[in-house]
Amino acid sequence: TAAAVHSGKHDGGQPKPGVDQGPIHLINAGLVDQLKELGWNVQFDGHHQFEEVSAESDPPIGVLKNPRLVSRVSRSVADVVGSHARRGELPVTIGGDHSLAMGTISGTLSHHPDACVIWIDAHADINTVETTPSGNIHGMPMSFLLGLNKTRISEYDWVKQVLTPDRLVYIGLRDVDAGEKTILREQGIKAFSMHEVDRYGIGRVVEMALDHVNPRRDRPIHLTFDVDALDPSVAPSTGTPVRGGLTFREGHYICEAIHETGLLAAFDIMEVNPSLADAEAVKATVAVGCSLVRSALGETLL
Ligand code: ARG
Ligand code: MN
Ligand code: MN
Ligand code: MN
Repeated sequence: TAAAVHSGKHDGGQPKPGVDQGPIHLINAGLVDQLKELGWNVQFDGHHQFEEVSAESDPPIGVLKNPRLVSRVSRSVADVVGSHARRGELPVTIGGDHSLAMGTISGTLSHHPDACVIWIDAHADINTVETTPSGNIHGMPMSFLLGLNKTRISEYDWVKQVLTPDRLVYIGLRDVDAGEKTILREQGIKAFSMHEVDRYGIGRVVEMALDHVNPRRDRPIHLTFDVDALDPSVAPSTGTPVRGGLTFREGHYICEAIHETGLLAAFDIMEVNPSLADAEAVKATVAVGCSLVRSALGETLL
């Protein structure tokens, strides 16, 4: 089986420089060879850098920061992911900030319109143009994918409403904005916060999440993993760390369990920012990023 590893080298969806360097670190840590050892025929696509849009040429649109850059990068990633999916390859996208999920999920859904999305994150990333407290687009990709924005931003017209709320489930949430809580409630979106992880354990949570988005276990799965879902003690080098997160094993268990379904159609690992901690913390975060990808692609403990 073939996997296509590529990166969205990109940090425009949030204010801290450096998250565009995350992919280079994961690749330099040997991710491609590690996946080859698992038996994958890996094609490394390189770091898609896309056109540079300068700050001067990309002023805010309303409250949205870097709106043109984020749109263009995500749109290119959508094309890349879609074309790999059409060739029957498993697209693995290394971010980059989580605004890229607009691209990766659009790409997956272009080939698998019935796919479901499992979103692992401390955050819901579902703010709309109306609710965003920051204007950072990495906090907004789900609102575009679900067509929730009332204010039209023509730069984002290419993002089609490809997903329905019943095919989205979250695991790991613990920092959800007030406006986002309203959206989750109104849209009836299933979410397992850290409270539910504590209550039921990660095994039951993954099973319940799959029962919700994939009751007959016949839908392709897009797994998008924000490394800040993990506790900051496990993954410190990220832009918006929130304490009380998933343990090392809980994070890996999710990836292993989704691999076991045989339904994984695309995987994203996002928000590794190697400029935000000391060398040791960076090394640990990059290593955990690589091992999450390996688990999703079939690495077992025995
Ligand atoms: N909810 C906050 C916002 O909208 C934080 C989002 C963090 N997102 C992320 N992909 N790390 O700005
Ligand atoms: Mn390619
Ligand atoms: Mn997050
Ligand atoms: Mn996120």
